[in-house]
Amino acid sequence: MPLVGPKEMFANAYQGQYAIGAFNVNNMEIIQGIMQAASEEKSPVILQVSAGARKYAGQRYIMKLVEAALADDPSVPVCVHLDHGPSFEMCRDCIDGGFTSVMIDGSHLPYEENVAITRKVVEYAHPKNVWVEAELGKLAGVEEHVSSAEHVYTDPDQAVDFVKRTECDSLAIAIGTSHGAYKFKGDAKLDFARLETISSKLPNYPLVLHGASSVPQEFVELCNKYGGQVGGAKGVPEDMLRKAARMGVCKINVDTDIRLALTASIRQFMTEHPEQFDPRSYLSPAREAVKKMVQRKIRDVMGSSGKA
Ligand code: G3H
Ligand code: 13P
Ligand code: ZN
Repeated sequence: MPLVGPKEMFANAYQGQYAIGAFNVNNMEIIQGIMQAASEEKSPVILQVSAGARKYAGQRYIMKLVEAALADDPSVPVCVHLDHGPSFEMCRDCIDGGFTSVMIDGSHLPYEENVAITRKVVEYAHPKNVWVEAELGKLAGVEEHVSSAEHVYTDPDQAVDFVKRTECDSLAIAIGTSHGAYKFKGDAKLDFARLETISSKLPNYPLVLHGASSVPQEFVELCNKYGGQVGGAKGVPEDMLRKAARMGVCKINVDTDIRLALTASIRQFMTEHPEQFDPRSYLSPAREAVKKMVQRKIRDVMGSSGKA
């Protein structure tokens, strides 16, 4: 199957009250781990590439790796998406380079500027059949080049106006999630009432949840047991994400949990095998750890097993 856009994936997810996992990719092992999980689970999947990933690996390398992964199992629908596109130019380069979906992240801009830049990307993307995700509201923490100390939750009426004026295809909203491993100081809390309002004002419209890693404590403990210093990390409980997936959230973004699984595995291997220096010796179990983490997400968080 060639790369697909997320239109059909999201329409099915919306109807079926599940979500599509959007997993950040940076290198071959991460792509292989995710694709093996999607293939075994028979689940559609979104591979997303941040500006940082483009810089690290190079857009062409990533696209070639994805192409190879597609050939491995043509039955799995795969979408390649730009995560947190910071500019029109980067969105354009990704569209021209074969991405089937891009995010323009104008969430840090004044409202009218966010509308204008999103509209500009939509006008470039739509004639080429490329999907556009935008963001309204601010997640606390670091968002690519932007960092915000405070959440600014998405205003439901503004969301309606934004979608109408920009014609963006999906919208990332702020309801209490944040990027990285330190999401909540006290109890985890999401604003489900706000999600419900946004969802009811935008019927049949796919919403997106960023900052949706669950930071499973066993992986934090494993990192720390083998020399890591990941203190006080806390994520979004899996049952909250399942609930969001039943309320119009069709795409759930996960990066941190993949990083934790990969790093915990490498730390453990290095400690237990200090004599080893062949990268394949520690990257093989690390790739397997990515696969297991993504499999767990697909089953317990997205609910997208068997939907390919
Ligand atoms: O939302 C951000 C993603 O986790 C990507 O992170 O910019 O370090 O690649 P990155
Ligand atoms: P996490 O940091 O919670 O994994 O969020 C990733 C994300 O939103 C990528 O856009
Ligand atoms: Zn994000």
